[in-house]
Amino acid sequence: MTSPVIRVGVIGAGFVGSALVELLNDRSRNDALLDAATATIEVVGVGVRDTSKPRGSISKDLLTTDAAGLASRKDLDILVELAGGIEPARSYVEAALKNGVSVVTANKALMADCGTELARLASENNCDLFYEAAVGGAVPIIRALRTSLAGERINRVMGIVNGTTNFILSKMTSEGSDYGVVLKEAQALGYAEADPTADVEGFDAAAKVQVLSSLAFGTEMKSTEISREGISGIRSVDVDFAKNAGYVIKLVGVAERHGAHGLSRRVHPALIHNSHPLASVNGAMNAVFVEGVNSGPLMWLGQGAGGGPTATAVLGDVLDAARNRVDKRHQVPFSVDPEIKDIDAGDTSSIFYISVDVKDEPGVLAAVAGVFGKNNVSIRSMEQHGVSNEARISFMTHDALAKNVQATISDLAKLSSVDSIGNCIRVIEGVK
Ligand SMILES: NC(=O)c1ccc[n+]([C@@H]2O[C@H](COP(=O)([O-])OP(=O)(O)OC[C@H]3O[C@@H](n4cnc5c(N)ncnc54)[C@H](OP(=O)(O)O)[C@@H]3O)[C@@H](O)[C@H]2O)c1
Repeated sequence: MTSPVIRVGVIGAGFVGSALVELLNDRSRNDALLDAATATIEVVGVGVRDTSKPRGSISKDLLTTDAAGLASRKDLDILVELAGGIEPARSYVEAALKNGVSVVTANKALMADCGTELARLASENNCDLFYEAAVGGAVPIIRALRTSLAGERINRVMGIVNGTTNFILSKMTSEGSDYGVVLKEAQALGYAEADPTADVEGFDAAAKVQVLSSLAFGTEMKSTEISREGISGIRSVDVDFAKNAGYVIKLVGVAERHGAHGLSRRVHPALIHNSHPLASVNGAMNAVFVEGVNSGPLMWLGQGAGGGPTATAVLGDVLDAARNRVDKRHQVPFSVDPEIKDIDAGDTSSIFYISVDVKDEPGVLAAVAGVFGKNNVSIRSMEQHGVSNEARISFMTHDALAKNVQATISDLAKLSSVDSIGNCIRVIEGVK
């Protein structure tokens, strides 16, 4: 019996797109792909901006600069969007879905901006919208949340979902180097962009938190501000303090339930205790840690970026979408919880590490401690280091409301004996 043919259009032949076409063209895996897709996958066009660039094994005949035309082809079964960015990617995806063509994308920016609307469009047109590679590269967290944990009540999702920042912070920890030095090294090695803002200031991680929270908590994927703090202010003294105290600094994206309908979503650096599973996620690796009421703690770990790893996740989606086409079915739309509400990051509590540079003079400690007390922030431990006629005091608080800690910082900055506030970073303890 001849197998059905699934016609695939790919927009983008960069790192991920070209790796995907390589995987689809790998003749040695023909049978495995055929079994998984229950169909023969045929790539019928590859949209790019410049057809003269070298494209590895991609046949020149497939290349086109008319990506809009490719996306609108009614004879496609699946459109794979690997161009990135919001426009024109959004128009391409919408055109395909309106024609009932299933879409696979790795585009977290697009999904975070209008994923719910696109998923609705897919459902109305009886086709699929898959986006496994949008979070964590090869790490299969989207499918795990959608299927294995579909019935679980999740309390918290916490991830190291940006390889660039994890690479930088891991190097700062292992080599004791300053942020600026390691950033340059990361840029030279291709781990950081020439303009690193999206990664180091947490925008990329915030988009991924949007995608994860939609599946774990039923929030909408639409343009929303998420409380965000990057890593550019992390100093080697903070990294050293963390190391000596048994912690490591990581950039984390968090979505956690507060009460029946409250949700805190945020991206920030955190001191993670060495006994926490996320503490050992180093270099460009990504990991997502999920705490469910019945499942308990779970963690997924793997390559968060790179053409090959990301293309494997895209390929899995293509095979899934192909099977659905053959079976004439499509995934159920995910649900949105209309009652779930974002709460202010200031209303969440945590242990905090705070470092303050003060004048080395009598009475300073009492004045500083008084400010903590006045704002209801209780000190768990304190360390003082002399630096000529100045001193640096590093505090760890007990669990404290973030807005009280902010008030403490503002009040400390007003003390004449305080030269500067070093850093204020949340602390995550090990799993109990
Ligand atoms: N790279 C990773 O490790 C990684 C990991 C996870 C997710 N992702 C996501 O995967 C997607 C692709 O990433 P990438 O790293 O492969 O990007 P990339 O290397 O920059 O490739 C982008 C490709 O899209 C093409 N393109 C861009 N705009 C286009 C347009 N308007 N019309 C037609 N073609 C267009 C480019 O054509 P030209 O080649 O002609 O310029 C290029 O081939 C992005 O959404 C990214 O966020 C990437």
